Amino acid sequence: MTVALIVAAGSGERLGAGRPKALVELAGRPLLQWSIDALQDVESVTRIVVALPPGTPVPAGVTGVDGGAVRSDSVRRALAAAGEDDLVLVHDAARPLVTAKLAATVIDALRSDHDADAAIAAVPVTDTVKRVDGVGVVTETLDRSGLWAVQTPQVFRRGALERALRAPAEDLALATDDAWLIERGGGRVIVVRASDENLKVTSPLDLQVAELLLAGRRAGEA
Ligand code: C5P
Repeated sequence: MTVALIVAAGSGERLGAGRPKALVELAGRPLLQWSIDALQDVESVTRIVVALPPGTPVPAGVTGVDGGAVRSDSVRRALAAAGEDDLVLVHDAARPLVTAKLAATVIDALRSDHDADAAIAAVPVTDTVKRVDGVGVVTETLDRSGLWAVQTPQVFRRGALERALRAPAEDLALATDDAWLIERGGGRVIVVRASDENLKVTSPLDLQVAELLLAGRRAGEA
C-alpha cells in the first residue's frame, strides 16, 4: 500500500499573494485541497500526510505536520509521521492539477519494475535549453533529445527514500526533488510520461492558467 506525502510548507513568495501558496484560493478551493482531493481518489493510497506552514489548520481527512526550512526537511518530517506502507508517494502542493489517474500510473510503474527504486512523473522538454553565465552570456546549448522536465508525483520504495533522506543537511538543502537524492547514490529512477497540464503554480500567470484548466475540467464533468 502507499502513503502519500504532500509538501505544502513553502512560502510562495514568487506568487506575491501575501499568504502561503497552499492556502491561496484556486477555482473555489485552497490550492492544497485540489491535490488532497485527487490523491484521496487513488485506490492504493491508505493515508495522506501534509507538511504545512506552522500554525496552518489541518485539512479534514489528512494528517498534518509542521514543514521544515527546506523542501527535503518537509518530506522527512511528513515521512516520520507516516505508517508502515511499502511505497511512499511525494507530491508538491504547488501542482494542483495532479489527477488520481496520473498518481495511480506512477505507482503502478514502480510496482511493475522490481529493480527500480523510484518512478517519477515527467514530460519531454520541448524548449531549447541553454546554459547561461552570471552576466547573461550563453555558454552551452544542451542536446534536447533525452531531456525531460520532472514533476511530482514521485513514488519511492520506502527504504530507498529513508536512506536518501539521511544525506547531510547541505545536500538536502540542494535537492529540488527527492529522486535526485536516489540517483546520486546509484539508485534506479524511471520516468512515467505525464502531461504539461500537471503544471507547477509559481507565478500569478500560472495561477490564472490553472484556474482556466480546472474550470475546463468542471465543464467537461457537467
Ligand atoms: O520551492 P519549491 O517551488 O521547489 O517548492 C515545491 C514544493 O515544496 C511546494 O509545494 C512547497 O510548498 C513545498 N515546500 C515545503 N517546505 C519547504 C519548501 C517548499 O513543503 N520548506
